[in-house]
Amino acid sequence: MKFDVLIIGSGLAGLSVALHLAETKKVAIISKRSLLDGASNWAQGGIAAVLDSGDSYDQHIEDTLVAGAGLCDDSATRFIIEHGREAIEWLIAQGVPFTRDDSAELGYHLTREGGHSHRRIIHAADATGHAVQVTLEQKVRSHPNITLLEHHCAIDLITSDKIASDKITKAGAKHPAAPRCLGLYAQDVKTGKVLTLAADHTVLATGGAGKVYLYTTNPDTATGDGIAMAWRAGCRVANMEFIQFHPTCLYHPYAKSFLITEAVRGEGGLLKLPQEAGAAAGTRFMLAHDERAELAPRDVVARAIDAEMKKRGLDYVDLDISHQTPEFLQEHFPTIYARCLELGIDITTQPIPVVPAAHYTCGGIVTDFCGRTDLAGLYAVGETSYTGLHGANRLASNSLLECLVIGRAAAHHIEQQPKLKAIALPAWDESRVTDADEEVIIANNWDELRRFMWNYVGIVRTTKRLERAQHRIGLLKEEIHEYYTNFRITRDLLELRNLVEVASMIVNSALSRRESRGLHFSRDYPDTLPKALPTVLSPPRR
Ligand code: FAD
Ligand code: SIN
Repeated sequence: MKFDVLIIGSGLAGLSVALHLAETKKVAIISKRSLLDGASNWAQGGIAAVLDSGDSYDQHIEDTLVAGAGLCDDSATRFIIEHGREAIEWLIAQGVPFTRDDSAELGYHLTREGGHSHRRIIHAADATGHAVQVTLEQKVRSHPNITLLEHHCAIDLITSDKIASDKITKAGAKHPAAPRCLGLYAQDVKTGKVLTLAADHTVLATGGAGKVYLYTTNPDTATGDGIAMAWRAGCRVANMEFIQFHPTCLYHPYAKSFLITEAVRGEGGLLKLPQEAGAAAGTRFMLAHDERAELAPRDVVARAIDAEMKKRGLDYVDLDISHQTPEFLQEHFPTIYARCLELGIDITTQPIPVVPAAHYTCGGIVTDFCGRTDLAGLYAVGETSYTGLHGANRLASNSLLECLVIGRAAAHHIEQQPKLKAIALPAWDESRVTDADEEVIIANNWDELRRFMWNYVGIVRTTKRLERAQHRIGLLKEEIHEYYTNFRITRDLLELRNLVEVASMIVNSALSRRESRGLHFSRDYPDTLPKALPTVLSPPRR
């Protein structure tokens, strides 16, 4: 199959690139589950943008830089924030039903989240991502220039140097310069068949890697596939040590990944010690950690909760918004209200038990402002990428904004590129593999990886624990490689192979940072160095 543009991923990044290109290009969207499966569909709080004349680009930029702890790229931050309003206007034009507020300048309600000095989060109640995704889904499903390949899992990119070097082994020819991405292999998850897909341009919009941790707010799709594929194809990856832990994931045995949006704290929710804390139960603790209290940036709040839990031996802390009226809570947080009630928690009268959980991958594939990677013909957009916007800690609700702005810029860049001559790509070779005999190994390795990443590479790190994780990753990598080369692939195996690669990047980056900054806190290096530098990893030469 040949397309003008292949887009891997159907989150907000992938869908916005597709819709911006579809008038002029033949586009295919490949998605490893159904179209709506992905983090974008679960986004709650909203999208940050300057939409009120009392606010300014400079203030939004300043808030982003403060949260990013000195590591944001100034020009990327300015570029993305200054294009925010236009991105929101595009979504409104597509028909996204944002929550209205007739007294507001633009006619839409703006909420507040930690680290923001102004109300600037446009939202659709507490299910913003779903409202956006459902609206865009209808557009892509009905567009004649867009082919949808749902339940297809991308395996690896096909690059010109790989094809050339295969030919060299046969003909002894010289290695050509400047490799290019020519397409990819993807497995139809339902039939197991592997397709060869060719394209002039390929866009990785595969989301983050939260599933590398045992506890995460992320959906099952977040296995870092794009980061691992780009790395194997020769692209640099940056700032992988900066994994954002969201402070308030619901603590409940039957709802492990359910997020309680930061907007709950933005609208007055207070963090308190729970019943388990005995005499101290009901005490607010955030003011003892930071003067911004519940509205401090996420890294500060997550570390404070972690410290209170460890100090007092607690399983969770309480988030209490029961002082707001039931009408207010049902109007602003209908999803959270209903889900908690289903689980026996009435948020209008009771506090919500919460714990921190892995939430956002701040690092990723190095790109410029058009999403271009180190490999010609390959772009990366959204959570899989590293543009420099998020620095050492992402400011809440800046990520959907980044998907939209860089998605549009990537589409414009692709539109301006000339068409390429078709090249025949080699088919997937399965001649030397057999069906796996022991599927249980995959499940065990998944579990082991996520558990030691949680225990050794979590909110507070030490060199010793990181080295332990590094050693375990080495062993797992060998085992998974052997499994991958000998047995027929499955989605679980592909994801595990990618997760272990990404885990290795997180640990190696964390070990190389000899300071504490933003989301990376090391007991062995508690100070922040005067000069902030990103951690850029370069793949081994192939
Ligand atoms: P995703 O939306 O995760 O989409 C990735 C896509 O890639 C999926 O379709 C997936 O199936 C596909 N994919 C992955 N690997 C492969 C493969 N190998 N082959 C084929 N397809 C593949 N950010 C905000 O700005 N505001 C918020 O309010 C907010 N709330 C959040 C709430 C939750 C619970 C979570 C988890 C995140 C939240 N975030 C929020 C972060 C934000 O949702 C994500 O950063 C953003 O949605 C990422 O979009 P994306 O398009 O890059 O990736
Ligand atoms: C939330 O609603 O708290 C999540 C916002 C975000 O991750 O940006």
